[in-house]
Amino acid sequence: MSSDAQRNIILVGFMGTGKTSTGEAVAVRLKRKFIDMDTMIEEREGMPIPRIFAEKGELYFRRLERDLVTELVTVLDLVIGPGGGIVLNPSNIRDFQSTGVVMCLRAKPETILARVGHDPNRPLLQGDDKLGRIRELMEKRKPLYDAIPIQVDTDGLTPDQVAVKVIDLYRRHQDSH
Ligand code: S3P
Repeated sequence: MSSDAQRNIILVGFMGTGKTSTGEAVAVRLKRKFIDMDTMIEEREGMPIPRIFAEKGELYFRRLERDLVTELVTVLDLVIGPGGGIVLNPSNIRDFQSTGVVMCLRAKPETILARVGHDPNRPLLQGDDKLGRIRELMEKRKPLYDAIPIQVDTDGLTPDQVAVKVIDLYRRHQDSH
């Protein structure tokens, strides 16, 4: 076994790319613990994400995310699903890469809309023209997601099928490092 056998697996990506469902499936298959960062933040703050955004602001939420990243990089053997905006602070990705393998899940805007378009828990996707909003936000963040060396296409795949791809990419990464 190579020395990085226990590196964390971090699944980043836009909302609705399947970070949580895939992360859970990867964790089950590898018998690891899955950390859903949004859920952890909600538990600690005692309120759902939309309320944190509404009452304390996005900046406050981004600080909570940042603090949690610095905490999680001190632990090994995890599968981590951050919120879609984790890429907004490059330090988050740099820190995650220090103890883990970061992969970016991708999906078309239409796939995203079908997966999370009706979910009231996505404060950044509220409003009438949801597809337009998804396209706009995705385009704005494109360079940040594109910068992740390992990309995983999820269109037309179930979380379990994506999990198989993720584990394969992870093992290949271990073999080559
Ligand atoms: C966000 C994505 C959400 C959540 C918050 C902000 C974003 O997580 O962290 O609503 O900025 O893309 P999911 O990607 O799990 O929906």
